[in-house]
Amino acid sequence: MQLPAPYPASRPRRLRRDAFTRALVREHRLHASDFIYPVFVHEGEKRVEPISSMPGVSRLSLDMLLPVAEECVALGIPVMALFPAIDPQFKTPDGVEATNPEGLIPRVVRALKQHFPDLGVLTDVALDPYTSHGQDGVLDEHGYILNDRTVDLLTQQALVQAQAGVDIVAPSDMMDGRIGAIRNALEGDLHIHTRIMAYSAKYASAFYGPFRDAVGSRTNLGKADKKTYQMDPGNSDEALREVGLDLAEGADMVMVKPGMPYLDIVRRVKEEFRVPTFAYQVSGEYAMLKAAAANGWLEHDAVMLESLLAFKRAGADGILTYFAMDAARLIREA
Ligand code: PBG
Repeated sequence: MQLPAPYPASRPRRLRRDAFTRALVREHRLHASDFIYPVFVHEGEKRVEPISSMPGVSRLSLDMLLPVAEECVALGIPVMALFPAIDPQFKTPDGVEATNPEGLIPRVVRALKQHFPDLGVLTDVALDPYTSHGQDGVLDEHGYILNDRTVDLLTQQALVQAQAGVDIVAPSDMMDGRIGAIRNALEGDLHIHTRIMAYSAKYASAFYGPFRDAVGSRTNLGKADKKTYQMDPGNSDEALREVGLDLAEGADMVMVKPGMPYLDIVRRVKEEFRVPTFAYQVSGEYAMLKAAAANGWLEHDAVMLESLLAFKRAGADGILTYFAMDAARLIREA
């Protein structure tokens, strides 16, 4: 008997035929340990303020944050990232409140490490929540952000965070030379274990709008932008130069931000440097998906998980995402 012609020559659909085969050959997976959960804190007690442009996200006072931290631990989320919404009365042109050892963030760090020693705590190093103009640094008389003066303040801020017991400092300011200055100061103060996750390739992006609502810097910033220090969205080689500098200056881990529109950068950084590489799925990306899901245009859980898995496929070792808790719960149930 004549066998039929071998057509098609290859049948990739064999490996997609059943759920078990798909599971068997799947290359990338999400785990709760992939996530870093960013949270917003403010002063007071029993204070929960929902952020309208980030459905499901609220600013919390410390007492309200502790149960969230407890759930992170239970879900296996390794790290929480803290962002402060500072009372306007403490905002100044130089943002010096950022260096106050008794400020909001050092107090929250101490409390979290005391209650949950095994939960990693990451703090942002930048002045924008503390400045009256909403920029990440100190301005000269023309409104230009002064690099070296700003680095001095950031170094002081990172040191105060380390002294409060933070595990990871994450400079998000994009000033030149700040990683080296912070690393030197940490070593000099014997904080040899404090890890630095550098926001190395941080773009001057329009996707940060809801975050600026959350920390209360949007009105301070007004129509101004951050293009003289954050990177131009048209650039890709420059991201590699920035990552190279930060690693040479002492960063342990690097980050690309925003996330979804910059997965090509994640891939290039990972391939070029082979170091722990993180991506930040920023507030605007979260807001987009939430808005579409709220309208019934996209399926919430499916797009959430797909968007997060895409980071892993692109080469990210972990993801900062406002979806961390929801995604971790779903993964646990699956
Ligand atoms: C502050 C900072 C920003 C974000 C993280 N740290 C905003 C900005 O640079 O204006 C954005 C995070 C987000 O949008 O979710 N330096």
